[in-house]
Amino acid sequence: MFRTCLIILGATLVHCQIKLEKIFEECHLQMPDFEDCLKNGMNQLNPYFREGLPDYGIEPFDPFFAEEVPFKSRMPLFNFNLILRNVTESGWTLSHVSSVKMNHNKNEVAITQSFPDKRLKGWFEFDGNILGAKVKTQGPWNLSLFDYTQTLTVSRKPAGPSAPLSHHPIKVKCNLHTCKNLELHVGNLAGGRSFLENMLDRVINAAWQPGFVILSPIINELVGTAFTDIFNRNFQTFPFSAVFPN
Ligand SMILES: *[C@@H]1O[C@H](CO)[C@@H](O)[C@H](O)[C@H]1NC(C)=O
Ligand SMILES: *[C@@H]1O[C@H](CO)[C@@H](O)[C@H](O)[C@H]1NC(C)=O
Repeated sequence: MFRTCLIILGATLVHCQIKLEKIFEECHLQMPDFEDCLKNGMNQLNPYFREGLPDYGIEPFDPFFAEEVPFKSRMPLFNFNLILRNVTESGWTLSHVSSVKMNHNKNEVAITQSFPDKRLKGWFEFDGNILGAKVKTQGPWNLSLFDYTQTLTVSRKPAGPSAPLSHHPIKVKCNLHTCKNLELHVGNLAGGRSFLENMLDRVINAAWQPGFVILSPIINELVGTAFTDIFNRNFQTFPFSAVFPN
């Protein structure tokens, strides 16, 4: 009985799990449309972002959680240290890959993606100078990005004496392009003075476009850090050669 259950369970799991080899079976490095082939394959993986791909050692990453993301700004009028804590980021399941570009010389792949609705939230600790005023505060925050596009550049040092095959680190950089609208709510922005806070909240959300210059590097850092972490945790043992046989 127990064995039957195990076999049924095993069979169900096998059925539920996607075969990446199958999805990418047409993709060969020598093909002229290799990048499009990867893109089409990636766009079939969305249903698995929530559950992950345990067969390939990939944990669920929608939502993603980051315990701590530090950020520094050293612009003259915006000089601060910001620490984002307990950050969750969701929206990957609805995202769409619009292009994949390989750079073999640099061991890099650039993935451009659009998100109809991406949401982030967490806790922040802020300490610094804004327009000459000293500001030290902390509180909850949340951010929604609508019709948002970003490019993630994933690079991996080739294996060598300084980087053994199983542990050469992956680095992810995020570069956001556009965003049609955003909503940012920051709790305790003015030390609990609710009139001022409500006003600031309205100003931020009505006039976020100029402020986006400040915000976009923070989002880049946040997403880049999150994905450096995701890729390093999940793709170190990823069987690339099984998925992309040459
Ligand atoms: C972050 O989450 C941990 C674990 O749930 C909790 O102990 C900690 O107090 C949280 N930190 C903040 C700043 O919310
Ligand atoms: C977003 O943050 C604001 C300010 O802290 C809070 O009032 C609101 O409930 C939050 N919304 C969500 C969806 O977490």
